[in-house]
Amino acid sequence: MKSAVIYYGKTGFTGKCADVLKSKLNGEVDIYNINSSIPTDLEKYDTIIIGSGIYIGKIHPKIKKFIESNLSKILKKNIGIFITSGENRAEYISKNFPKDILDKAIIKEHFGAGLDSKKLPFMEKLLLKIIGKCRDFCEMDSDAIERTAKAVNSIKRSCS
Ligand SMILES: Cc1cc2nc3c(=O)[nH]c(=O)nc-3n(C[C@H](O)[C@H](O)[C@H](O)COP(=O)(O)O)c2cc1C
Repeated sequence: MKSAVIYYGKTGFTGKCADVLKSKLNGEVDIYNINSSIPTDLEKYDTIIIGSGIYIGKIHPKIKKFIESNLSKILKKNIGIFITSGENRAEYISKNFPKDILDKAIIKEHFGAGLDSKKLPFMEKLLLKIIGKCRDFCEMDSDAIERTAKAVNSIKRSCS
């Protein structure tokens, strides 16, 4: 059984969460940072877990586009979704993913938030400074990642 963790993050935190999740999943796991590598063959996966940081209330357009372009293929799989964001708001999940994905997802989690401001473009850093939120931090929700791994690992057991 094979899983793909496909994510977008701007400053590294979402990627760290994806790495921790990968380390806890059983079986073969491929990890894709959609910014640099787009999976071309989704057919080979049983489970697809999609994650993104939240930027001004939205998942990143690249992950949104990836979902839209591959919707029918993703819907044939076991699906998990996760976000990372300063605030844990239910609408960040409910308003950012297509309804079909939300209906089928067995995992919808918030993995915490983190920021490494030196990795941000100048204008975004400035924006965060203006609203007083430009401090570096790393607050990973390990329980949420553990829950996700357990849920995915139990699907695999029931299939094998
Ligand atoms: C430009 C920018 C906009 C953000 N907008 C929001 C937001 O609207 N709501 C929120 O809760 N967090 C917001 N955040 C916080 C990020 O979602 C959070 O720090 C996330 O973990 C970043 O992940 P990354 O390091 O993978 O980019 C914003 C961060 C940045 C850099």
